[in-house]
Amino acid sequence: MLFDVQHPAKGDRNIVELGMVDKIEIDGNKVTVTLAFPKHRDPLAEYLVGSTKAALVRHIPGIEAEVKTIVKEDTSRKPAGLNLGLEELANVKHIIGVASGKGGVGKSTVAVNLAVALARIGYKTGLADADVYGPSVPKMTGTEGMMPEAFKDGDKEVIMPLEKYGVKWMSIGYFARPEQALIWRGPMACNALKQMILQVRWGELDFLLIDMPPGTGDIHISLVHDIPLTGAVIVSTPQAVALADVEKGVNMFRNESIRKPILGFVENMAWFTPAELPENRYYIFGKDGGARMAEKYGIPLLGQIPLVQSIRESGDEGEPEALSSGPEGEAFVLLAEKLAEAVKNL
Ligand SMILES: Nc1ncnc2c1ncn2[C@@H]1O[C@H](COP(=O)(O)OP(=O)(O)O)[C@@H](O)[C@H]1O
Ligand SMILES: [Mg+2]
Repeated sequence: MLFDVQHPAKGDRNIVELGMVDKIEIDGNKVTVTLAFPKHRDPLAEYLVGSTKAALVRHIPGIEAEVKTIVKEDTSRKPAGLNLGLEELANVKHIIGVASGKGGVGKSTVAVNLAVALARIGYKTGLADADVYGPSVPKMTGTEGMMPEAFKDGDKEVIMPLEKYGVKWMSIGYFARPEQALIWRGPMACNALKQMILQVRWGELDFLLIDMPPGTGDIHISLVHDIPLTGAVIVSTPQAVALADVEKGVNMFRNESIRKPILGFVENMAWFTPAELPENRYYIFGKDGGARMAEKYGIPLLGQIPLVQSIRESGDEGEPEALSSGPEGEAFVLLAEKLAEAVKNL
């Protein structure tokens, strides 16, 4: 009968399904039902109390019904079975989301190299690969096939990040075989990626970068909602299409319910430099798209990374270009310095 009491603001769902029935007590012919509400002064509380009482009286002749209310924090949106707090992030100074409007613009390349460059200039750095659909950190860092250690700390399961090139790495890719397509959706993807961040013993860090999945969907909203991001860096290529996607990315972080500072843009593949002509710059995607975008949104252009074969190759080989002392390595170091500065100025 309690199944008959529908919540008018929650579609057809009833108070049982919604987990609102906190307690049922029976004493002689008196039935007391306690309904839990997620917040104080719920505008529908009175209505639901009334209809619950009516349902009880209607279905059980001769009883005396009482309906009480209590306030309980909404737990329905938290992943079932996961009890993840923010303890593991307690000693992390800045959490930076690396985002892009669409895939293939070099978000992971930039995130991995930026992490290595931050470590190179002395910052304690970690990177969480939250791209549950296409985790590329294991490959780009040459840590494929390694298995992070997991252990119990009290009643909590913790995962140790892998360490290489002076950076702490974590990726969903360590837990799935490379040929296994990760086609998780909705809550499962959300859980997995929150685990990649909240269950990891990061220890003391100056920067934790998060390689976010491409796009601007529910996962992002949920991630940005639950993880205390300092701000975001948006990666784009100079093409008009990519820039249109950037707009979505910008709007996502500026969304009323999110409001996270965008620390800057990174224009990837800003120009092409062939290995044999290292002084030449060919603007194959058009010139200064990133600068125009930066101006349009009042967001600084933190850095420009050229399209060079060695960046792709070093990614494929698991030895990020940012380790090198060449001009590309320097471009990432410069980007790292700019980011550190942007964070200081917040
Ligand atoms: N600046 C660059 N120069 C050369 N190749 C690049 C550059 N940035 C990215 N790539 C290559 O482009 C492909 C896509 O990059 P990736 O970082 O995986 O993109 P995303 O994470 O946005 O999907 C990869 O093969 C990568 O090596
Ligand atoms: Mg990627």
